[in-house]
Amino acid sequence: MDIVRVGICGLGTVGGGTLQVLQESSSEISARTRTQVQVVHIGARREKPDYDLSGIRISQDIFEVANDPDVDVLVETIGGIEPAKSLVLQAIANGKDVVTANKALIAEHGNELLEAAEKAGVTLSFEAAVAGAIPVIRALRDGLSGNQIKELAGIINGTGNFILTEMRDHGRAYEDVLQEAQELGYAEADPTFDVEGIDAAHKLCILASIAYGIPLAFDEVYTEGISKIQKSDVLFAEELGYRIKHLGIAKRTDKGIEVRVHPTLIPEEVLLSKVEGVMNAVWIDGDASGPTLYYGAGAGALPTASSIVSDIVEIARSRQAGFAVSVPPLGVDLANQKNLPVLPIGECKTAFFMHITAANKSGVMLAITKVLTEAGVSIDAMIQKEAEPGSNHVPIALVTSVALESVLNSAVEKIEALEEIVKPLVRFRVEALEA
Ligand code: HSE
Repeated sequence: MDIVRVGICGLGTVGGGTLQVLQESSSEISARTRTQVQVVHIGARREKPDYDLSGIRISQDIFEVANDPDVDVLVETIGGIEPAKSLVLQAIANGKDVVTANKALIAEHGNELLEAAEKAGVTLSFEAAVAGAIPVIRALRDGLSGNQIKELAGIINGTGNFILTEMRDHGRAYEDVLQEAQELGYAEADPTFDVEGIDAAHKLCILASIAYGIPLAFDEVYTEGISKIQKSDVLFAEELGYRIKHLGIAKRTDKGIEVRVHPTLIPEEVLLSKVEGVMNAVWIDGDASGPTLYYGAGAGALPTASSIVSDIVEIARSRQAGFAVSVPPLGVDLANQKNLPVLPIGECKTAFFMHITAANKSGVMLAITKVLTEAGVSIDAMIQKEAEPGSNHVPIALVTSVALESVLNSAVEKIEALEEIVKPLVRFRVEALEA
């Protein structure tokens, strides 16, 4: 039986999980690939007593793995941009296939890395970079390859979803839940990547590129985090029949592609609104398939390793079949990518939720509705509460019809300039997620 020799760089949570899955499922993997997949070299600063490393060469310098002629496939699990990028380029230059879980690396430098891989005739795979265990890249790239993707929307950061769930269900403070997410190992090394939406933007950038056959364009992903969401917004949203989720959304329009990450009100009856805690889910609406939904663990050692090993299996199968590159990693060869524009946020269209705090004076509602009417924005739902005892400020929440963001922005400026409005209004986008 042929042997596919694997080198793993990094023996932390994900690298260790990958070794464990390759060892524990070796007979299934052999049957599925008609080869023997063997870990032959590990690059890690420290050996870990929890793993069986017998027969495996260990190097403290990860570049020794990239330069090892006995390694066919290099698995990069060290994370971050450097030295991961140089390591991957070195492995590609040495003719190795590469598997990575590194979403930042692929989103920010994937165009360059994929070009190098394509020229070298090797594969660069990254199923584990998006939504952990969920095989969503393969679903988009292969399972839905007969479709034009109308829209996709995903809960693709477990830490953010955990924070929102705990705030809503247990009334916990944002900082307190974030600290727990860090202690549980869900959060990124720099947790601002989670709460400011950067991690989700990395993942969405990859999904949008595959869905629409466009180059990776991380700098064009509109990104907002969850730190502005208050308990009062969550309660108003619920009263209006919505849940607030932090979504990555990619949508095809006549003018281009919307690619945006932000807190979003979604109807409480759609399945995505039931995805709680650290779980991830991606909803994809294809023109032929209709809506489809993919759900699972978005992080963790074994869930992430499950996706890494699926990439190794794909490489082993194509090596066995006699060709190095089977499916292009982004679904199309780089030369066949489309030049569709990513729309600036001002040109995106959504409905909006607004939470307005106004002085309790007669005519305030009229003033607000007048601004919206003049902008051509209608109001679909509205709630006004009584002022708290001792306060003359009334909270108002409303949901608008679908409007161009730039039009809505001008209306918001005019509402905030009204003398009855006592503080900047809070607003979030609303998505119906209808098929
Ligand atoms: N920090 C990430 C999350 C880990 O919370 O989803 C998985 O990418």
